[in-house]
Amino acid sequence: MALGRYPTTRLRRNRHDAWTRRLVAEHALGVGDLIWPVFIAEGNGSVADIASMPGQQRVTLDRLARHVEPAVRLGIPAIALFPATPPALKDAEGTEAANPDNLTCRAARLLKREFPELGLIGDVALDPYTSHGHDGVIRDGYVANDESVAQLVRQALVEAASGIDIIAPSDMMDGRVSAIRRALDEQGFVHTRIMSYAAKYASAFYGPFREALGSDGALKGDKKTYQMDPANALEALREVAMDLEEGADMVMVKPGMPYLDIVWRVHERFGVPTFAYQVSGEYAMIAGAIERGWIDRDRAILESLMAFKRAGCAGVLTYFAPAAAELLRG
Ligand code: PBG
Repeated sequence: MALGRYPTTRLRRNRHDAWTRRLVAEHALGVGDLIWPVFIAEGNGSVADIASMPGQQRVTLDRLARHVEPAVRLGIPAIALFPATPPALKDAEGTEAANPDNLTCRAARLLKREFPELGLIGDVALDPYTSHGHDGVIRDGYVANDESVAQLVRQALVEAASGIDIIAPSDMMDGRVSAIRRALDEQGFVHTRIMSYAAKYASAFYGPFREALGSDGALKGDKKTYQMDPANALEALREVAMDLEEGADMVMVKPGMPYLDIVWRVHERFGVPTFAYQVSGEYAMIAGAIERGWIDRDRAILESLMAFKRAGCAGVLTYFAPAAAELLRG
């Protein structure tokens, strides 16, 4: 690369006017890059604010279509469903995860009817359904890998049957992508995609999410025996490589902004559709600062999302999706 030299070369020339800045922009953020995570609840007639996530709600199914409709109208390609399961339906095995009439499945059927063109992403992990709040089943005090995978496969199948387009395993068990892929294919769900949470870290930034689902109080211990150590980067590349070999169509890094180095490495190394999740704690930090008037709302939202594109993301799961889509359209 030929490097210019001052004063012949002045890099500020290309920044002189808005039109020239637009011309030389290296990356673009579009509505097509946004995935909106949506919290759903049992019951009727409720749209409940989530205290630690200003602007986000947990809605009952009778309110779901109305809740999602503006996002569909704005052209957001897909939403990700997260169920708040009533404690009475939780048990140690996460039985409700495989119930074809669980909250996620009912929501998927309803949304497919209302908005056939909207992509639906279903989380696969047992934590919304287990009394202990872990993503798998526990044997001898340990989250048991293979027994958990068997239940995750059942969960993936009921989700696929209910109309979920993209199965998104967020559990971090070993081998779950290949087990799910095989089961989906055997049942004829050959077009159902898998977006694996390939490099998911044991992070403090999931706090508000667990509050939103009511799984915070339930969780016994931490998730460090299956979610990744924030100290590791090479291990993330192995996780991604294995998930791709097992049949993942898209991979995800999570959390997002503190892990953009991982996103970049995955993008560079593998060149596959790479996503990142701007998680609840990241949302809370930005939304909280916006609320206090400490940062400019519109610019902070768009800048945070552009950072993902620059790092190589095909798209971003973000609670700002509707707000960002509105800004991008306006
Ligand atoms: C559950 C799951 C979590 C998130 C997505 N799926 C929480 C966790 O692993 O404890 C976090 C999302 C967020 O914080 O926004 N497997």
